[in-house]
Amino acid sequence: MTATDVRPSPDAEAMAAAVAAALRTVDANIDTFGDRYPADTTAANHYPLRPPAAGQPEGANVGWTTSFWPGMLWLAHDLTGGERHLRAALSHVNSFADRVAYGIDLDTHDLGFLYTLSCVTPARRFGDRRAEEAALAAADHLMTRVLEPAGIIQAWGDLNDPRQRGRTIIDSLMNTPLLFWASATTGDDRYAAAARRHTAQLRQHILRPDGTTFHTFYWDPATGAPLRGETEQGHADDSCWARGQAWGIYGFGINYRYTGDASLLVAAQTCADYFLAHLPDDHVAYWDLAFADRKDQERDSSAAAIAACGLVELADNLTDPARADRYREAATLILRSLIDNYSTAGHLVSNSLILHGVYDKPKGVGVDEGNLWGDYFYLEALTRATTPGWTNPW
Ligand code: GLY
Repeated sequence: MTATDVRPSPDAEAMAAAVAAALRTVDANIDTFGDRYPADTTAANHYPLRPPAAGQPEGANVGWTTSFWPGMLWLAHDLTGGERHLRAALSHVNSFADRVAYGIDLDTHDLGFLYTLSCVTPARRFGDRRAEEAALAAADHLMTRVLEPAGIIQAWGDLNDPRQRGRTIIDSLMNTPLLFWASATTGDDRYAAAARRHTAQLRQHILRPDGTTFHTFYWDPATGAPLRGETEQGHADDSCWARGQAWGIYGFGINYRYTGDASLLVAAQTCADYFLAHLPDDHVAYWDLAFADRKDQERDSSAAAIAACGLVELADNLTDPARADRYREAATLILRSLIDNYSTAGHLVSNSLILHGVYDKPKGVGVDEGNLWGDYFYLEALTRATTPGWTNPW
């Protein structure tokens, strides 16, 4: 066989076709949205502009999900090296700088999601000063949410809101990279120390002994004592919300990478093993893992996309090759199912990359719709799978 006879494997062909289809949708969305932002989720499989909120007009930079759009643009740039994607990604820095400068909708731990993808990436890659200053200001704001003596970062709302005080959520594991970056950038360990304490609290209390996770957990704000777990978007307080478990796989794994704390690597494996043991035949989780065999429930494709990324991150950090291979194979099966059964490739009916996500089933929000984070992590999973030496933004 000569070199010219070597053909890509069917998997490689499917991945390349999926990347091409995803990039077509991203390109069309650059034309549609410009410097404005799509809504959190699609409505009838189509993203409208973000509705007015927090005193801001339609399409404004509010809420927790806006950075997934520039995050996708950075991934598109990683995939193509194209000037158009680079310009489009950089064009969002001003909006995020203004958001933190003018204090627009900042009462959230999701400053990590927001500023890691929008500003830390251009700060790291190009030394972009405005992006760096905005991301540091966001990290400072996130530090105001650290509650003593518990040492946790309050997730949602005003710090004096009795319903939210002392409460954090498993998703917050993805917000600590902003703090680790801030310490590395400033040389001030305060940010990283807060991230380490918060993550240790989650490992001890939000991860249950049976390998499942609470969505949210309360600490006594006065004494710091751990109080109780409670769900917000899951089926029940004692069930296992699929996306939360996926955040656990990826989030504990990333925090292991920053800290070298082996107990976090074990926590990521624990989350992964439970998640993988509760998947239906097509490898894409129902929105709560309690429904592993309930065909009347919706899948959450976004949980699958997050897990596909988290499993590869986990495998990359393991020294046991057999275990690492098992997680990589599981990630490939999930990604192939997303490509074959959930992606919009070839359908002109949608401006999202994957369909069939669930945002918040108990409140009936974004059920069986596309969503920005599902699209982002699907594109991240494709980028990981097809771009050797890819640099992880988290
Ligand atoms: N971080 C919020 C969610 O996963 O719905």
